[in-house]
Amino acid sequence: MADKDGFKVAKNYQVDVPFANNSESFYVKGSNNLDWGMKKHLANIFDAKSGNTVMFAFDHGYFMGSVAGLERLDLLVPTLIPHVDVLMCTRGALRTCVPPTGNKAIALRVSSGSSMLNDDLSHEVVAVDMEDAIRCNADCMAVQGFIGADGQLQSIGNLSMAINAGARYSIPTMGVVAVGKDMERTDRYFKIATRIFAEIGANIIKTYYCENFEEVVAACPVPIVVAGGKKLPEDEALTMAYRAISEGAHGLDMGRNIFQSENPIAMAEAIRKIVHEKATDREAYQFYQYAIHK
Ligand code: 5RP
Repeated sequence: MADKDGFKVAKNYQVDVPFANNSESFYVKGSNNLDWGMKKHLANIFDAKSGNTVMFAFDHGYFMGSVAGLERLDLLVPTLIPHVDVLMCTRGALRTCVPPTGNKAIALRVSSGSSMLNDDLSHEVVAVDMEDAIRCNADCMAVQGFIGADGQLQSIGNLSMAINAGARYSIPTMGVVAVGKDMERTDRYFKIATRIFAEIGANIIKTYYCENFEEVVAACPVPIVVAGGKKLPEDEALTMAYRAISEGAHGLDMGRNIFQSENPIAMAEAIRKIVHEKATDREAYQFYQYAIHK
């Protein structure tokens, strides 16, 4: 293993140079050499025209229990399915509240072990095995990673286990960059965490928007999807979404900024306009305001 002596800080990201290993054969970043099945799942997630995705995240219950806005998954989720591309959820939510009749991609939360009832949010296990991920028709498996926290080794083991199993059955893995209470939300941290997950073999990375985000994107050889984070005013959330997409994210994975908004459907559609239709944040917010007042 390379030692840290003489370590030089990376700085030459060439952010204006497109990713090189992107042949016209397959449009998802870093996936050209994957097999058909992996590509098919990635094509289910990322739109072939925009190259992007709108994930609706409602997996919060796996460690938060009932969250404001998610009190009744059974009533909320079916109303939002037509307005998003991917459902990010637990197998419990999927089997109880998602009709099997739809054709939306599934990002299945497979790691578990945290809870809001104690301060330990950085020790998880892979709770869903490969067979049940297949039964759930997962298009990717979501595994939390805790870089820089006590749970780092276990979480890298979890991610590696999911990647190994996913490779056997052609199901991609999404590495979810956690930001615990003691972790920094800086580009330095996100550059390290996203690159580690990608080098371990994750096919998609989910992280948060930050300053110098385009350098985070440039240094990561697989697509990055941005989590919404805590609830923001709708215009601020749409500005964050616009900046993320403009700076190279291949999608948004919004939870609270959709299900805690005044009008979740209108918010999901406003995000779609940024993600798939090249709308600006201002245009998307005008759409949102019109939708809620019509
Ligand atoms: C929660 C998650 C969520 O999928 C992710 O954080 C997106 O949700 P939000 O936009 O509410 O942050 O990983 O464990």
